[in-house]
Amino acid sequence: MRGIGLLRRLTGIPAPVPKRSKRSFDHALAQRFEWKNNRQVIEGTFAQLYSDVEANRAAGGIWHSASDQFFCGDENLFASFVERVRSRKCLEIGSGPYGFLLPATWIKDRTIIEPLANKYRQAQLDLIGKTFLTDDVRVYTTGAEVLIDDLVGNVDGAIICRNALDHCEDALAIIANMSKYAANGCYLLLWTDIWHLQGIDDDGHHNITRSIEVMDALLEGLGFEILKHGALIRDQTEFIEYGRLARRK
Ligand SMILES: C[S@@+](CC[C@H](N)C(=O)[O-])C[C@H]1O[C@@H](n2cnc3c(N)ncnc32)[C@H](O)[C@@H]1O
Repeated sequence: MRGIGLLRRLTGIPAPVPKRSKRSFDHALAQRFEWKNNRQVIEGTFAQLYSDVEANRAAGGIWHSASDQFFCGDENLFASFVERVRSRKCLEIGSGPYGFLLPATWIKDRTIIEPLANKYRQAQLDLIGKTFLTDDVRVYTTGAEVLIDDLVGNVDGAIICRNALDHCEDALAIIANMSKYAANGCYLLLWTDIWHLQGIDDDGHHNITRSIEVMDALLEGLGFEILKHGALIRDQTEFIEYGRLARRK
């Protein structure tokens, strides 16, 4: 290959126009895939989920619990988290139609970065006249690769990003932005597939890295202390996944 490239340069033979590889990532296409998929999720599950969340709230619940994929049963850590985030600013990146923050109305200051938020809201309203995307939630519909100045150093509760980074164009830029948003003591709940071991057979995802070590080094280098490894929730023959509960130093 190198020889052919050199020959072309020496002889002036024009290089062929490269075909777009089927495996290259097209974010606009990925977002069309995402919308198609999540519209079906909303149609199939939103009415029941909304009523379950309401019932849980009426019974004094907070929807989430220590048994989730981040806290893995650690009741003390979960209690400290709840205490911290209840009245502090929390941010979710790529929340999807429900995410972690949207059903958690007990968290008083909620912001999401979700390019499809307006579509999700409208689909929920069209279905049952209710939505999790209420006016008290601050919504940015830009990609999270874009730094939002108002958030820099201002997120002191938690940043949550679950099952979103491999759907975004530039996962590493988003992790860097998270470190800029997080104030000291801010929790980070991060989970993502980092590699699809059997290839990618849809338009919605792409690979980030095979290296869990480099993900840890990235978080630590950007000022997060890793407190806990998340539960493994995938078939390990199909995915390399990465889940961490961390805190900004
Ligand atoms: C699989 S869904 C999210 C699932 C959700 N976080 C959960 O835990 O249920 C991935 C989401 O990432 C969003 N997304 C894609 N690219 C993004 C970007 N550049 N910045 C922020 N969000 C993005 C998509 O619109 C989609 O709603």
